[in-house]
Amino acid sequence: MRTTSVPARFRLANRLERVGFSDIVQIRNKVMELRAQGRSVHQFEGGEPFLPTPQHIKDAMTQALAANKTRYAPSSGIAELRAAIAGKVNERNRIPATVDDVIVVNGGMQGLFGAFQCVLDPGDECLMFSPFWTPIKDLVAYSQATPVFVSTKEARARGLRETLKQSLTPRTKAIYYNTPQNPGGVVFNRSEAEIVAGFAKEHDLIVLADEAYEDLVFDQEHVSIASLPDMMERTITSFTFSKSYAMTGWRLGYVIAKEPWMTGLRKTTLYSTNGVSTPSQWAALAAINTPTAFLADVLEQYQYRRDLLVNGLNALGLTCEMPAGAFYAFPNVSRIHKESRAAAATLLDAAQVATVPGIVFGDAGEGHCRFSFSTAPEIIQAGLDAMKKSL
Ligand SMILES: Cc1ncc(COP(=O)(O)O)c(C=O)c1O
Repeated sequence: MRTTSVPARFRLANRLERVGFSDIVQIRNKVMELRAQGRSVHQFEGGEPFLPTPQHIKDAMTQALAANKTRYAPSSGIAELRAAIAGKVNERNRIPATVDDVIVVNGGMQGLFGAFQCVLDPGDECLMFSPFWTPIKDLVAYSQATPVFVSTKEARARGLRETLKQSLTPRTKAIYYNTPQNPGGVVFNRSEAEIVAGFAKEHDLIVLADEAYEDLVFDQEHVSIASLPDMMERTITSFTFSKSYAMTGWRLGYVIAKEPWMTGLRKTTLYSTNGVSTPSQWAALAAINTPTAFLADVLEQYQYRRDLLVNGLNALGLTCEMPAGAFYAFPNVSRIHKESRAAAATLLDAAQVATVPGIVFGDAGEGHCRFSFSTAPEIIQAGLDAMKKSL
């Protein structure tokens, strides 16, 4: 009898072994399974804007296609878009960038991938506030570096500087700095940004700033850490069109950085996708030129949804701080179960409410579940009613 053995070489390269695959996919599969059984699910597990891409952005794509703007573009992005982005970040983020400091990428994910690849060597450590957006630990692992988690809650209570310092080692190379935060909705204020900037300068660290939710900040200002004195050269800032302009499926983002990082970002982009689809970039230009009144109007709609969900969760005994930014509520669900995976399973089975267990965002997320309020108010209300009946 012949046995089939797997050749030793049929093994994933070491570099990819410690890289995980999204846990959230499993939740999506379970939701699809329930729907296939004909059960209705109140969906709070997503991470997408509730509105469609604005018409003028879609029209710009159509016009670009009609005008045959379909050839290779420069791999760093079309000149018109890079100039508009440089204008936007100077004006709105106060980041002193020139056109040379701008690269267009396929969404925040590609920008962050490039940023971590540019900065981290194998064996380096990267400080990151926790809970954190799940893929970040995998992007750090992809660089064969080690994430070092710092609880946001503890840092805010005891002092950011002191808490970061406790985790500092001679191997610390960078800090991942996400504001507004996914999943907790924390927005670091100006004095917190100044503390982190001071810490980075004092210890010669690079800051990887993730500002995916820059336009979703309620009642306070969004501070780009690269705008602070002497921070531009040590900060790589990743932005995306996904959340601000409801363009998740378009895969469009941009990164702002000085040398040597920009050369690294150009390489990671060139040798992965060779740039971003040309007609999409013309749509991105229309997006960036959208009057800011659009963003203000959408923000109000998010705020209404936030208040509805967060007040409703608190009324159910699922204690939840009011998120200062992004579109997620992150209540304490230990009244359902102290383990967030079990709590999320109960919410789904008993109330058909789909959420993301907090543990997938790091140990500091345990005991919580993430609920997106980027959905119709009727859906939020129906989910709250279902939880009230069954919990
Ligand atoms: C914190 C954070 N950063 C970056 C991204 C990247 O988004 P995209 O790749 O769609 O631009 C996301 C998406 O959910 C996010 O939550």
